Amino acid sequence: MAGTQRVAVLGLGGMGEPMAVNILRAGLPTAVWNRRPERARRLGEQGARVADSPADAVDGADVVITMVTDADAVLSIADEQGMLAAVPDGAIWAQMSTIGVDGTERVARLVAERRPGVVLLDAPVAGSRGPAEQGKLLVLASGPPEVRERIAPVFDAVGQRTVWAGPVGAGSRLKLANNLLLAFLAEGIAEALALGRALGLDRATVIGALQGGPLVSPWAAEKLERIGRDDYSPQYPLNLALKDVDLALREVEADRFAVAASLAERWRRAVGQGLGGDDVTVVTRALDG
Ligand SMILES: NC(=O)c1ccc[n+]([C@@H]2O[C@H](COP(=O)([O-])OP(=O)(O)OC[C@H]3O[C@@H](n4cnc5c(N)ncnc54)[C@H](OP(=O)(O)O)[C@@H]3O)[C@@H](O)[C@H]2O)c1
Repeated sequence: MAGTQRVAVLGLGGMGEPMAVNILRAGLPTAVWNRRPERARRLGEQGARVADSPADAVDGADVVITMVTDADAVLSIADEQGMLAAVPDGAIWAQMSTIGVDGTERVARLVAERRPGVVLLDAPVAGSRGPAEQGKLLVLASGPPEVRERIAPVFDAVGQRTVWAGPVGAGSRLKLANNLLLAFLAEGIAEALALGRALGLDRATVIGALQGGPLVSPWAAEKLERIGRDDYSPQYPLNLALKDVDLALREVEADRFAVAASLAERWRRAVGQGLGGDDVTVVTRALDG
């Protein structure tokens, strides 16, 4: 019955932890698991059941959420660490990590082969840590329409809007398109500020002129404000942003997407310089000095 779903959240990083907090706040009984257990213990203080393995976390769950780095981590939890074998029949597995098209196909194959009674939803999210804390993510959901009502209390707890995109795989495709635009926005800010500096303009003047103008989205406005304060603490770390551009490039012909490919190479150098853990906006600092 909707509203009394027992939820398991696996992966309590920058995104998974605030998502689990909001699911708890929505009054849904929640079990949590994280590879490094101290993060799960913090959720325990807020009322979550702290599980000591993925299989323990999903015991009795109606809805399972995975929110980890990449497809290898998802498959390791689901397969090697026994999560999928322990999920009750009829439960929903909402795979919300960003794992791209190929990664989602691997997950869907695993479910079809091992646990066809589990309902897989491919539901990555747009919005970084701030929106995750405020329960204002955009959920890019895909999968069988008949479970929409059942999953709604969970998606409504983490997001302000859910877009249903089609069958499993469609949500991940939307996510890649969304994040390619985001990458260009981050790079556009970096290059506009670097150009301003090369032309002898003061950075605060350029930021002040751009802020409030028609080209600057709420996302870009917040990023410009943080850049103005030299705050590159991670909201959406560069290494995850590069992972997402790479996931997109893997699906298309490189010469049709030469600008994205060139962006990825520049960002790879920045990650090589040790900037991968900083926010994606650190590409501004990398270019602008
Ligand atoms: N940050 C954003 O702005 C944002 C926005 C939308 C979507 N996303 C996507 O959401 C997902 C999670 O992002 P995040 O920002 O929460 O990342 P994060 O802060 O780096 O956390 C990564 C999480 O994955 C876990 N993990 C990694 N490898 C694992 C493995 N082999 N086995 C088990 N657990 C593993 C980590 O566990 P430990 O704590 O033990 O290391 C941690 O819980 C990613 O796919 C990301 O692309 C991120």
